[in-house]
Amino acid sequence: MGKQVVGPFKQIVTAAGLPVKGAIKDESLEVIKNGGLLIDDGFIQEVGSFDQLRKSGNEVLELEGTHICLPGFIDSHTHICFGGSRAKDYAARNNGKTYLEIAKEGGGIWDTVTKTREASKEELVEGIIKRANRHLEEGVTTIEVKSGYGLSVEEELKMLRAIKEADVKSDVDLIPTCLAAHILPKDFDGDHKAYLDHISTDLFPILKQEKLTNRIDAFIEEEAFSSSITSNYFLRAKEMGFAITVHADQFSTGGSEVAVNVGAISADHLEASGDKEIELLAKSDTIATALPGASMGLGVAFTPGRKILDAGGALAIASDWNPGSAPMGDLLMQACVLGSYEKLSNAEVLSGITFRAAAALGLNDCGRIASGMKADLTIFETNHYNEIFYHQGKMKPKMVFKSGKRIF
Ligand code: NIG
Ligand code: FE
Repeated sequence: MGKQVVGPFKQIVTAAGLPVKGAIKDESLEVIKNGGLLIDDGFIQEVGSFDQLRKSGNEVLELEGTHICLPGFIDSHTHICFGGSRAKDYAARNNGKTYLEIAKEGGGIWDTVTKTREASKEELVEGIIKRANRHLEEGVTTIEVKSGYGLSVEEELKMLRAIKEADVKSDVDLIPTCLAAHILPKDFDGDHKAYLDHISTDLFPILKQEKLTNRIDAFIEEEAFSSSITSNYFLRAKEMGFAITVHADQFSTGGSEVAVNVGAISADHLEASGDKEIELLAKSDTIATALPGASMGLGVAFTPGRKILDAGGALAIASDWNPGSAPMGDLLMQACVLGSYEKLSNAEVLSGITFRAAAALGLNDCGRIASGMKADLTIFETNHYNEIFYHQGKMKPKMVFKSGKRIF
């Protein structure tokens, strides 16, 4: 791939210079008017005036019409590797059953585990690519994908190998995470501690050997794993060099405290977090991740994003796309709706799905438009970036670039 100049853009919203933590006013956004980009071998070399850059003697891709360029979106929390559907659960919930009641009766996550175990690795790869491509068309250029519907060494490996294969076969960057600690598998003959000991002893070394992931996640909740058992599991994972991320404070508190204590890179969900948890998170380096798609799928309150930002915390926003709690999988739409309910500035919404999500994944080469960053770009045909958020996700990108390659 040689050098190419792309533009002109009425506005390039770069997200350069914005902080990872705390509130951000729209006035702080760097907006380059009549801008252009010089892309070299998949990376941004220069951001500046299109008229200047076009004179550089490089190949020029000149766009017709009025365009706004944003950093490619990053979805830092998904479960898009799964088999089956849980439309039945959705209907049951809307008829009065709760998510935890369905789980207690043996449905919920366990239902997806059964369907995912029945699927071949190839079928899982196909499902991931289909969902990743839909995300890509909606401007998402990097996607985290969790295992967690296998719940045995062999089945978790099948999922993580499928994610790795889908990453190679698709244009999107997929970041894998092991969520073997999702719930206690019904067919495991033992207790919660015995299961997590088994996973850390028998699965973790293979994850390292096959380079399947360097991230470990767990669901801390009444129907899943307790704070104390999970803390020990995380400490073991940390000793082996894994980064930690947590499904925390979704229905009850406890998880965020564990996340902060073990130095997790992110604590996700936080719908149930109160002032104490918000304070703890805000003082830490753990990125707080709101998952508005789960609130919408379950019909529960949103994560207190405004309070987290005002306390000085870092707020990423992710889709949680999964067959149970968050089947919609539309990141921009969900982030905009969260923005409207939580009174987040457009700058905070954009930050949540770009460089703050990158921070939640430990990535430093994407999420902003600046020299040295991957040329991951989401381009809309409109005349002001405010229009994109105003349409709450209904305005779709006109073009998407992944590592300098125009995908569509
Ligand atoms: O993030 N809360 C736990 N795990 C997922 C849901 C998984 C499922 O219901 O299949 C979540 O909401
Ligand atoms: Fe999740």
